[in-house]
Amino acid sequence: MRRAKITIVGSGNVGATAAHWIVSKELGDVVLVDIADGIPQGKGLDLLEAGPVEGFDCRVTGTNDYAATENSDVVVITAGLPRKPGMSRDDLLKTNTKIMTQVTEQVAKYSPNSVLIVVSNPLDAMAYVAKKVSGFPRQRVIGMAGVLDSARFRTFVAEATGVSVEDVHGFVYGGHGDTMVPMVRYCSIAGAPLSKFLSQDKIDAIVDRTRKGGLEIVNYLKTGSAFYAPSSSVVQMVEAIVRDKKRILPCAVWLEGEYGMKNLYMGVLAQLGTNGMEKVIEIDLNEQEKAGLAQSAEAVKGLIAALENT
Ligand code: NAI
Ligand code: 2OP
Repeated sequence: MRRAKITIVGSGNVGATAAHWIVSKELGDVVLVDIADGIPQGKGLDLLEAGPVEGFDCRVTGTNDYAATENSDVVVITAGLPRKPGMSRDDLLKTNTKIMTQVTEQVAKYSPNSVLIVVSNPLDAMAYVAKKVSGFPRQRVIGMAGVLDSARFRTFVAEATGVSVEDVHGFVYGGHGDTMVPMVRYCSIAGAPLSKFLSQDKIDAIVDRTRKGGLEIVNYLKTGSAFYAPSSSVVQMVEAIVRDKKRILPCAVWLEGEYGMKNLYMGVLAQLGTNGMEKVIEIDLNEQEKAGLAQSAEAVKGLIAALENT
């Protein structure tokens, strides 16, 4: 069987850390790309040289030339500027739209059958750009945010309840911004509802912290944004695709009528396998959840409108 070929565009914090986890799980060969001369080559070679020690057997190539990415199965796009203190995800819109356009043109040219996983912010708008520029069907342009936001939510629940994070199940819907919707009603600890474990005040505080989870890290780091949990989240999606796991994960998906919404990226549960986003999962939402999702959709639409006017 042919090994999977996984290209990562943007060899910065998220891209390089994702490459690290991909090879340590032996998910496939990795091509690291960046606009910066020497960075993907240096990080790629350094990572390759860890193979004999760690015992992974994957090729890692670093390049500034997209020809090396030809026929990739999955392309993760992390190219762009990260958020700095005082900067919202939306501030990144203009610069990262240009970068996303250039990158997607190259990626689509060399790997017309690949599945794209968009990471760059503002996420829901960048996924829109990648879909529009590539012309790929929605199954093959997915945004990563929900796995990360849900991981943060689950971490905070585990911390507040003192239970193992392995027993905390939950997911976050909506756009990757302050309007995201942690689905509290669907959060469970070993199958029991969260409300059995925590007061409403504590749950509300966790919801708020989840929404500001990215900012919390930015404020600590000062020179950039989170990358361990984001790259680990990307790799969970990559693994689901290259191993055809049919996992159901919260992802930014181009909606075509599901949840009464269309023509925008929204974080919802979706099934991932070889073909990319193979199925949108529709769950029942109560009035409050529907209103939260609608508000988040408005924020995403606002971003797209701003983008179309730049
Ligand atoms: P970083 O600054 O460490 O790396 C970005 C890399 O992109 C740099 O190496 C830069 O040289 C490269 N780059 C810039 N323009 C390029 C171009 N035209 N072609 C190829 N490469 C180019 O940033 P980091 O921390 O890796 O974050 C990357 C992006 O991911 C940011 O936009 C950030 O906001 C976003 N992000 C999104 C998350 C999500 O949940 N969706 C979570 C974490 C980060
Ligand atoms: C995060 O949530 C910056 O979007 C990035 O950490």
